Amino acid sequence: MAKFYLTTPLYYVNAPPHIGHSYTNIAADSLARYKRAKGFEVLFLTGTDEHGQKVERSAADSGLTPLEFADNTVGKFRELWERIDVSYDDFIRTTELRHINTVQKVLDILYKKGDIYQAKYEGWYCTPCETFWTDVDEYEALCPDCRRALEKISETNFFFKLSKYQDWLIGYFKANPDFVLPHFRYNEAFSFITQNKLQDLCISRPKSRLSWGIETPFSKDHITYVWFDALVNYISAVGFTGDKAKFSKFWPADIHFIGKDILRQHAVYWPIMLKALDIDLPRSIVAHGWWLVGEGEKMSKSLGNIVDPNEMVNEFGLDAYRYFLLRDVPFGLDGNFSRDLIIKRYNSDLANDLGNLIYRTLTMVEKYYSGKIPVSLNLEFNSVIRNKIRGLSGALDKFMDKCQFSSALEEIWGLINMANKHVEETKPWNLSKENKKEELADFIALLVEVIKKVSAEISYFMPRASAKINEQFLEDKVIKGKPLFPRIDKTKI
Ligand code: ME8
Repeated sequence: MAKFYLTTPLYYVNAPPHIGHSYTNIAADSLARYKRAKGFEVLFLTGTDEHGQKVERSAADSGLTPLEFADNTVGKFRELWERIDVSYDDFIRTTELRHINTVQKVLDILYKKGDIYQAKYEGWYCTPCETFWTDVDEYEALCPDCRRALEKISETNFFFKLSKYQDWLIGYFKANPDFVLPHFRYNEAFSFITQNKLQDLCISRPKSRLSWGIETPFSKDHITYVWFDALVNYISAVGFTGDKAKFSKFWPADIHFIGKDILRQHAVYWPIMLKALDIDLPRSIVAHGWWLVGEGEKMSKSLGNIVDPNEMVNEFGLDAYRYFLLRDVPFGLDGNFSRDLIIKRYNSDLANDLGNLIYRTLTMVEKYYSGKIPVSLNLEFNSVIRNKIRGLSGALDKFMDKCQFSSALEEIWGLINMANKHVEETKPWNLSKENKKEELADFIALLVEVIKKVSAEISYFMPRASAKINEQFLEDKVIKGKPLFPRIDKTKI
């Protein structure tokens, strides 16, 4: 059986999950379900990134040890994944022994190889971002990323020779045009590596300044930089240090799902780390865009505009939430998140298109056939719809292979809308009045076929809705329940 190994970022545990985190995991989940259905042996990995300054500080603020603090937040992530049906196979925490051992082994290999060296660093440092900066405007001394004040520091650290591999990486990009998707993100990463001279990466922090991290094997006075630590998770989880058989089975990863914010770490640092270790690179890195709120603002604690996915699920239900995220914005682009937009999508696509098709079909099967699904004698009845049903899986394959979730859903809705239009044009109530029995049976059997196909294909995106539809459409009869997606009256919200 072919394998498919996909990962999400490991989320920081300094704050509970928000809609952005849920987006990445819902997208990854939909692909995981899809690949399982196609017969792949899927390994879907998610987890948490627990070391570093941010966590150490948040823990201190709440009077807990970093690990106690992390345990709390990890619980919230796990609960959320459970609640929104994220079917991960493995959850890795960077505080687990399997990961710590792997990070230390990686450091040891690279140090012995001469790709990690010690040097004195003097310069600017952004504590919240945990990033060193050169070329800083001395008068301003603000972080180029977050615009907070930089500190001037002088300390001995360990550096990883990114620069040594720059030419190799450029060549790798040229030879692998699908290494980063979508292509405009590939271009962004490519121009970064071609237009800048890569600086060696500082991969340690002195314990005197920060102690919450993985100790380096070459110095008891240093811990590992949180990014170097976190990226290694993708190989820790598949047994780089322990389980050779598992590692050779699952590595390289097929997809690393990430948000556009962490492209550089995944498309520049990580490939070079792997190359230095003489390990294959992941097949692709897929970076999605940003969910913005209000008037196109970033969510942040200080603005108090962080949206809790739990609230959205309470309000709109899980199916609508997952559908909205995957359908409303093409994967890769930024999108606006708002209740109004969810309601709009819900009412048009779920209540109106899908809900209506199901409800009217159930009603007709009950009314004309006492709930028993009629048998069609004419299997060529309406070949246009039949062809659409037959071609749907193939069309979806193409979109899913490129992680174009929105287009995949649009394709399914193409069939739903075709069927609804067919009802409006055929006016089955007239067939019944005119006693055209065969035609009516053909017609209704075809609608049921459409619904069963749609239910199968939406199961990756909306597993619950699919299950509920299947409960109403059995092998040969229907059981009409409550409407799946009752219209939301906006004035009542
Ligand atoms: O960066 N819209 O963790 P993190 C869409 N620990 N996606 C969003 C988002 C938004 N507004 N906000 C966050 C880290 N995300 C590191 C990763 S990986 C080895 C280490 C999602 O908790 C998106 O996937 O800040 C983004 O890349 C990730 O959360 C960042 O999560």
